[in-house]
Amino acid sequence: EKGGYKHFMLKEIFEQGRSIRETTLSRISLDSAKVFLSEMQITEEEFRSATKINIAACGTSWHAAIAGKFMIERLARVPVEVDYASEYRYRDPIADPHALGLLISQSGETADTLAAQREMMAKGSKTVAICNVVGAALAREAQGTIYTHAGPEIGVASTKAFTAQLVAVFLFALHLAQVRGSVTEDESRHLLEELIALPGKVRDVLRSCDAECERLARVYSSVTDFLFLGRGIHYPMALEGALKLKEISYIHAEGYPAGEMKHGPNALIDEKLPVVVVATKDPKDAGSCLRYEKTLSNIQEVTARSGKVIAVAVHGDEDIAQVADEVIYVPAAPELLLPVLDVLPLQLLAYHIAVRRGCDVDQPRNLAKSVTVE
Ligand code: M6R
Repeated sequence: EKGGYKHFMLKEIFEQGRSIRETTLSRISLDSAKVFLSEMQITEEEFRSATKINIAACGTSWHAAIAGKFMIERLARVPVEVDYASEYRYRDPIADPHALGLLISQSGETADTLAAQREMMAKGSKTVAICNVVGAALAREAQGTIYTHAGPEIGVASTKAFTAQLVAVFLFALHLAQVRGSVTEDESRHLLEELIALPGKVRDVLRSCDAECERLARVYSSVTDFLFLGRGIHYPMALEGALKLKEISYIHAEGYPAGEMKHGPNALIDEKLPVVVVATKDPKDAGSCLRYEKTLSNIQEVTARSGKVIAVAVHGDEDIAQVADEVIYVPAAPELLLPVLDVLPLQLLAYHIAVRRGCDVDQPRNLAKSVTVE
């Protein structure tokens, strides 16, 4: 049942090309350059007139939510608020019939996420669920569902469901943008072509990075702490890299927005601290290149303090090797889709480190796959 893989987690990591393709294909048309979200009891007019999107989720799904904020705000120009679902109800949140709720959950049964959905609905908002389990509670209560077609995820550490969530929230963002007229047909077509090319790139990364991550795991598996940094939409990927590592290897890890280092965490850096920096860029996107330049200076700040930098960068980036100790390369992609590639080496690194430490990768201590208590 593990299809020849040693663990479910590894099998699921390697299934990501397929799950991304499945999540995309039935929802797009290249002829019309349109995204279609079916099964919605939300009209185009309601999508058009939404004044705000409230997203709530937990854990890894919350990281997809933060990435989703970048996607929705950039493409559809609607303000987005992201909450931990476990916090949402307790802060008297602002939701109303003009706001749309978006709940992201692999299982669709997470109690906190369901409670956040009920709170949004009680305040008159319609809700959309992004969920991996057909007929789950979240989907039953929502006015619309975008299923991630990742298939059953057995490993407690979420991998293929996460990248499928990134794709689903991207489709939601692009659909919203199309309905609201904030993207041109040419931009839409370009993004859809890139989305179609993504599964192939995912397979390339998995093939090319696995041995490299295994090698890095041999070097770094006995450290006590790890730091993960990123900027912009890559910052939630740094958070995800840190969560994956602590969850399955029990190494203390923190994710931080790279620019925040000088406001405190720089004090942690010494020659024993490995710092994983997500430093990918879309060379065709000026904003992405600017963000990248800033990330490069953050890397230099780490190496100047003797920290060990493992960078994730795009093929053809010649500057990065000058400043980082190790570089893992992934193919280039548009800024909003790069997170899907960024996170793959982070998953593999966490996996190989946990295996080397003899941890129960699929069933980490103290954790359950589905958290049905608040
Ligand atoms: O089923 P959900 O997506 O709602 O679950 C949310 C979190 O419990 C989950 O993502 C958790 O953080 C994972 N174990 C992370 O790998």
